[in-house]
Amino acid sequence: MTTHTVTLTGLRAVYGTGTRRVTALDGVTTSFASGTFTAVMGPSGSGKSTLLHCAAGLDSPTEGTVTIDGIRLDQLGEDEVTRLRRDRIGFVFQAFNLVSTLTAGQNVELPLRLAGRRPPARDVTAALDAVGLADRAGHRPSELSGGEQQRAAVARALITRPAVVFADEPTGALDSAASRQVLRLLRALVDDHGQTVVMVTHDPNAAAYADRVLLLADGRVVDELDGDISAATVAARIAERETLRERSC
Ligand SMILES: Nc1ncnc2c1ncn2[C@@H]1O[C@H](COP(=O)(O)OP(=O)(O)O)[C@@H](O)[C@H]1O
Ligand SMILES: [Mg+2]
Repeated sequence: MTTHTVTLTGLRAVYGTGTRRVTALDGVTTSFASGTFTAVMGPSGSGKSTLLHCAAGLDSPTEGTVTIDGIRLDQLGEDEVTRLRRDRIGFVFQAFNLVSTLTAGQNVELPLRLAGRRPPARDVTAALDAVGLADRAGHRPSELSGGEQQRAAVARALITRPAVVFADEPTGALDSAASRQVLRLLRALVDDHGQTVVMVTHDPNAAAYADRVLLLADGRVVDELDGDISAATVAARIAERETLRERSC
């Protein structure tokens, strides 16, 4: 039986009012099976970040429900959402979002410290080791390359062993070699640890690491690919959609 770590039902997200009203999500229903890697793609402004933020409990949808590990977020209080996010969800941002005054090691242990736990040094070392940064524990973000900073951010997202890791364009600011390292890491979370990964990307090469691709347009899921995903099949599908869009305009 397939179990789903994340289920989204009828998600709508509306920002602003009157003439400034924007519908970022317009009825998204989908789920992310445990131990799978999904890439979310679509044009800029199609609602990808909103989808991720709602799914991760960083933002509340206007309508619809998010269920994580069988728990409905809208039925939780604010503190309970914070706790669930801390314990079961990892989030990786395009801009890394490391704390500049802390070392890589301190950044990695931050989620546990915020939860009032004192992580054993070996756990921090193991997390840094898993991303190939064991020898950079004492470096501050400004002393690390972009790729190293993002790998530290991945280690930080993993220290709590979350059921699901959301990543919003995690390779958007990286060169191709650093991107490959980060993508291999995300893939290994799924293959070696059965975690669930949902990643927003613009890059068909990055999407090729996924088991499934969701294509968004105007806040809706308009297409889905699974099975044998290659950069070429993803790029072809996106080009097809763009042609359809141009014709309908
Ligand atoms: N906090 C916000 N306030 C107002 N509008 C927003 C906000 N966040 C997103 N939007 C709008 O919602 C739409 C979808 O945004 P977003 O989810 O960031 O798209 P994507 O990540 O696909 O580029 C865009 O039109 C964006 O301008
Ligand atoms: Mg975005």
